[in-house]
Amino acid sequence: MGVTPKIAPSMLSSDFANLASEAKRMLDFGADWLHMDIMDGHFVPNLTIGAPVIESLRKHTKAYLDCHLMVTNPIDYVEPLGKAGASGFTFHVEISKDNWQELIQRIKSKGMRPGVALKPGTPIEEVYPLVDSENPVEMVLVMTVEPGFGGQKFMPEMMDKVRVLRKKYPSLDIEVDGGLGPSTIDMAASAGANCIVAGSSVFGAPEPAAAISLMRNSVLENQEKC
Ligand code: DX5
Ligand code: ZN
Repeated sequence: MGVTPKIAPSMLSSDFANLASEAKRMLDFGADWLHMDIMDGHFVPNLTIGAPVIESLRKHTKAYLDCHLMVTNPIDYVEPLGKAGASGFTFHVEISKDNWQELIQRIKSKGMRPGVALKPGTPIEEVYPLVDSENPVEMVLVMTVEPGFGGQKFMPEMMDKVRVLRKKYPSLDIEVDGGLGPSTIDMAASAGANCIVAGSSVFGAPEPAAAISLMRNSVLENQEKC
């Protein structure tokens, strides 16, 4: 398999008042990406951060900022997030049925990597056109909890979506988000996920570096079995 493991601590579980040092701490612990949950209080019942915070954090780190847009109007965020220094821009398929082509094109034109996310109730087939397009998304994020909050329970039944996706697209970045940690990583990795978001399990671990390396090893070991 040509995909590399990317372990992405979700900064939603960090101390937002110390975001720069929390980010540095995670990178020192071996994180590959930093997962940034952008919520508008409308698409999901929670409100977090936006472009100004990404811009502030960017001044402190060169890390890949993997932005997950849980917002109703992602197109309005492309320009500000591009300027702020976001790296990945993952929008939800549920609210982009009419404009995903324009979204992908604009995200790329701002130098970001486009991804598409789907909620637990959304069938996997809905993302196929976006991956098969001439101008495709470069990552699919399979939500393994209802988006909105950290610390929820992993939904193992979502692994069918990951398996189907991995079979169809052997070299696609497939991300899972929600309830991932040392006790659930093997289910996700054996289904074919390679980008792993983990919030509470990493920030709450006695040794976050050990949790990160355990998850990376699980992805690598499962790839060897393929
Ligand atoms: C949930 C967010 C997640 C969340 C994951 O809507 O998209 O990124 O922070 O947190 P844990 O790993 O605690 O489930
Ligand atoms: Zn997320």
